[in-house]
Amino acid sequence: MNIIAFGASTRKESINQQFAEHVAKLFQGAEVATLLLSDYECAIYSEDRETEGIPSVVIDFMEKLKRADLVVLSLAEHNGSYTAAFKNLLDWCSRYQQKTFENIRFFLLSTSPGPRGGMGVMTAALERFPRHQAEILDHFSLPNFQQKFHPDKGITNEVLCLSLHEKIQQIQQSLTA
Ligand SMILES: Cc1cc2nc3c(=O)[nH]c(=O)nc-3n(C[C@H](O)[C@H](O)[C@H](O)COP(=O)(O)O)c2cc1C
Repeated sequence: MNIIAFGASTRKESINQQFAEHVAKLFQGAEVATLLLSDYECAIYSEDRETEGIPSVVIDFMEKLKRADLVVLSLAEHNGSYTAAFKNLLDWCSRYQQKTFENIRFFLLSTSPGPRGGMGVMTAALERFPRHQAEILDHFSLPNFQQKFHPDKGITNEVLCLSLHEKIQQIQQSLTA
């Protein structure tokens, strides 16, 4: 099983990047490829700019997603929604391919230092991604990242840890069925 781990933040120490990589590695027997949003930054989308062509990084990004069995995407929340860099990439992707996420399966995650765990951005993505034909296999938000996540041990809250593992098991079963 080929899994892409991707955090929707360009911050070098992104907690969402860390979380996406951690979760992707919990899938048994998976080959995990890590993508960094900072490698896919491009000029702010405009219809005028589009006449000059789609940036090659956008095409590269989309083609990598299409080849994966699962994309573990952890969304960082800025002012209740996507980071500007991710929203920009999404805008470009939606112009590269009309049915943007057709046949692409996602496990959507979010985390933040606060108690809502990125609920705002998760709500936005759960509403929006299916309109781009994304198949969302499940979703999970981790609040209070700094208190509830340890780099070696993973999620330290028992209830949340169990919930995540159950979701992973169900996704793993559905992908190998
Ligand atoms: C411009 C900006 C806006 C933010 N807005 C929110 C917010 O609406 N909700 C929230 O929970 N955290 C918010 N935060 C805090 C982020 O959740 C925090 O910086 C987190 O580390 C971002 O994820 P990352 O480390 O993956 O980049 C904001 C941070 C910045 C810099």
